[in-house]
Amino acid sequence: MDLKTYIRSIPDFPKPGIMFRDITPMLKSANAMKEVMRRMAEPYRDAGITSVLAAEARGFVFGAPLAMELGAAFVPVRKPGKLPHKTETLHYDLEYGSDALEIHEDAIEKGDRVLLVDDLLATGGTIEACMKLANRQGADVVGAAFVIELAFLNGRSRLGDYDICSLIEYQTEDANE
Ligand code: PRP
Ligand code: MG
Repeated sequence: MDLKTYIRSIPDFPKPGIMFRDITPMLKSANAMKEVMRRMAEPYRDAGITSVLAAEARGFVFGAPLAMELGAAFVPVRKPGKLPHKTETLHYDLEYGSDALEIHEDAIEKGDRVLLVDDLLATGGTIEACMKLANRQGADVVGAAFVIELAFLNGRSRLGDYDICSLIEYQTEDANE
């Protein structure tokens, strides 16, 4: 199955010059999503993952089913003011703008083997923030899994030696790639 055919390219969204890679056609196909989960889980099946951590909103869409697939806990990371218990906050840079993310302070136990998940690796700011939040809580971060990687933004270089997997790569902002 060519998963790229389930991604729709939308020019100039959310602002001029950005080619938005839209995952909603993928979400609309149960078969594509099954295949996405199978491929995302594959490298980590024997890695002893105890928690899958993902940031809202689009990270939840893949993170929660992947946690179930791996028999692991799901840890939500959210935008400020959404989590009700005591939180830790981390400020980070985005592909367009800046933001902050929060995690519950008791979300991860020391030594948990954590897989980070998101729909998209662009500059790497979001996943780096997730990694820092997990590390602060004593997690053993195993790696990060993405559906899409914008390789030309080189987000990977921010993530050190972790095991990074992506299912679909783009080398340019070209709509027809
Ligand atoms: C998008 C995307 C990734 C992030 C990737 O999230 O879902 O989380 O950007 O960019 P980066 O690698 O440069 O950090 P966004 O913050 O737009 O919010 P959403 O998931 O709530 O739509
Ligand atoms: Mg996101």
